Amino acid sequence: MNRRALITGITGQDGSYLAELLLAKGYEVHGLVRRVALEDPGHRLTRIQSILDRVHLHAGSLESFPSVHQVFRTVEPDECYHLAAQSFVSYSFDDEFSTLNTNINGTHHVLAVLKDVVPKCRFYFAGSSEMFGKVEEMPQTERTRFHPRSAYGISKVAGFELARNYREAYGIHASSGILFNHESPRRGYEFVTRKITSGIARILAGKGHELRLGNLEARRDWGHAADYVDAMWRMLQQDEPDDYVVATGETHSVQEFVELAFGYAKLDYRKYVTIDPQLYRPAEVDVLVGNPDKARARLGWSSQTTLKSLAGEMLKADCDALGVVVAETSGAAPR
Ligand code: NAP
Ligand code: GDD
Repeated sequence: MNRRALITGITGQDGSYLAELLLAKGYEVHGLVRRVALEDPGHRLTRIQSILDRVHLHAGSLESFPSVHQVFRTVEPDECYHLAAQSFVSYSFDDEFSTLNTNINGTHHVLAVLKDVVPKCRFYFAGSSEMFGKVEEMPQTERTRFHPRSAYGISKVAGFELARNYREAYGIHASSGILFNHESPRRGYEFVTRKITSGIARILAGKGHELRLGNLEARRDWGHAADYVDAMWRMLQQDEPDDYVVATGETHSVQEFVELAFGYAKLDYRKYVTIDPQLYRPAEVDVLVGNPDKARARLGWSSQTTLKSLAGEMLKADCDALGVVVAETSGAAPR
């Protein structure tokens, strides 16, 4: 019989790639989605439009224990990938309360239900490099101490500890990925890479003339989401649950990404980019760079995408959507 997977956050960037990966592997794929999404599929299910006839969607909200319980009882999954979260760091400064509530209680609800209904189900928690925050060493490994800098980061540390505690206290096969930033043409428009590539496409299409950005000096370790969901799956195929850093091992500044993307468009970014102090965060994570050695050694996983081809792929997809041609993006076809 096909293995059954339940993905929370299936409508998001990672959820959509993971669903495709699991379908290709022969899984029966189920997703927990908010009722509003089911009621507005044209807008809110766009990332999974092409697989809608092959996945099973169930209405539920992370904040509601009964709704999570109901979905688990219906699906009885073999594997659960818990990706749903308020994932925008910047917004977590505007609304700490809802971020902490959704991300911490949501993870707690999922784990508590899993333990009650399907204790043999393998569990993946979407941890984040934001947990390292004000980094205490370079590069960051599974042993680096956490020092989160936002409610979002704090919520991910709490979720990570909950997953570890369920593993140690109740024997749940719970693994956490400490994933560094990963992007794609499906990235939300609010995140900096997509804001940049979609902004350039608008400029080329004559629909915009300015791109307002915040801190260009921040450095991130950027990979491709399609590569990273494969690491999630590999974690749940291990005999023993564990925690893994998933990263490229390279760090680049936002400024470098700006120059790369504007370079493809043959535009001088200085004519278009305006620094807006309002977009700076109250506490910034200045630099992130992960050491993926453990994932490489134990999972046989490594990042397959360079930043250059990632930026090219994203820009091309945004330009295609507006009917604009960019000469050469060196990116692979949009995944
Ligand atoms: P995303 O595109 O923002 O997707 C978030 C998903 O969570 C969406 O499907 C969203 O549903 C769902 N969601 C949010 N609140 C919910 C609620 N109250 N109840 C049910 N569903 C809810 O995020 P992503 O980039 O795919 O990231 C996936 C996970 O990995 C997140 O937990 C994120 O924090 C974590 N992470 C991401 C990265 C990265 O660089 N992408 C790195 C490290 C960790 P709607 O469509 O209804 O809004
Ligand atoms: N969003 C945004 N918008 N960020 C900007 C802007 C802007 O206009 N200008 C500069 N930045 C800087 C931010 O200050 C930050 O240092 C960096 O660009 C990246 O910001 P985001 O793309 O919003 O991502 P993030 O690093 O805060 O968070 C993402 O990665 C985490 C893993 O490290 C999210 O996907 C999180 O969910 C994820 O956990």
